[in-house]
Amino acid sequence: MSATEITGVKLIPVYIMGKRYEVPEGLTIMKAMEYSGYIFIRGCGCRGGICGACGTVYRKSKDYKIYTGLACQTVIEPEMYLAQIPFYPANRADYNLDDLTSAPEGIYKLYPELFRCVACNACTKVCPMKIEVMDVMALLKQGNIAKAVELSFDCIQCGLCASRCFGELPQYHITQLARRLYGARIAPRSRHLAEVDESIKSGRYEEPLRKLAGMAENELRKLYHEREIEPWEEGDDWRPEETGYL
Ligand code: FES
Repeated sequence: MSATEITGVKLIPVYIMGKRYEVPEGLTIMKAMEYSGYIFIRGCGCRGGICGACGTVYRKSKDYKIYTGLACQTVIEPEMYLAQIPFYPANRADYNLDDLTSAPEGIYKLYPELFRCVACNACTKVCPMKIEVMDVMALLKQGNIAKAVELSFDCIQCGLCASRCFGELPQYHITQLARRLYGARIAPRSRHLAEVDESIKSGRYEEPLRKLAGMAENELRKLYHEREIEPWEEGDDWRPEETGYL
């Protein structure tokens, strides 16, 4: 009697690091490897396609192509050849954001290999987040940091782009620098945040905080439950009646 007949779960063959295993159909690559006895100490994080830790490469049966993906998101197929990438050693520049301005020359100096891009688009094809990586590189070469940041917003830093790049660009590190520069030097400052910051520094909340800190737990609970709550149907101009804390 086969294992499938005993458990009721269909097992399919996959090759992990060249060795054949039979694993339940429908598993992700990560779960299939764990089912086969592999333990992830690194190269695994959120398991939800967000953290970018689990870049993986695989080949399908009778297919010449190398495929890439996230091990926690990619579902196995029969006869797949799997190999996990524990870490891709792409170049990462050393820098202090305080020494950089909003000018793109800072990026060019730290990552001159940006100009080695041959526009082959391999980076875009492997991106599990469907980012137009090659376009992002082109925008940065043109000095358009804001647009490059907008286009690369979904990057999860898995590094698969760099793993397939002919020009050996570390696209994910370059775009991370661009996003940092944008946040620190280019994005418009929030007026409201600045106002709140000022009012905190002015000591405005010291007295109410002291009062709260001196309250008993039941008093705090009462205050919390009886607080004014913004009604769902109100628009942006809703204000509480008690404005002493605003
Ligand atoms: S484990 Fe986080 S993306 Fe796969």
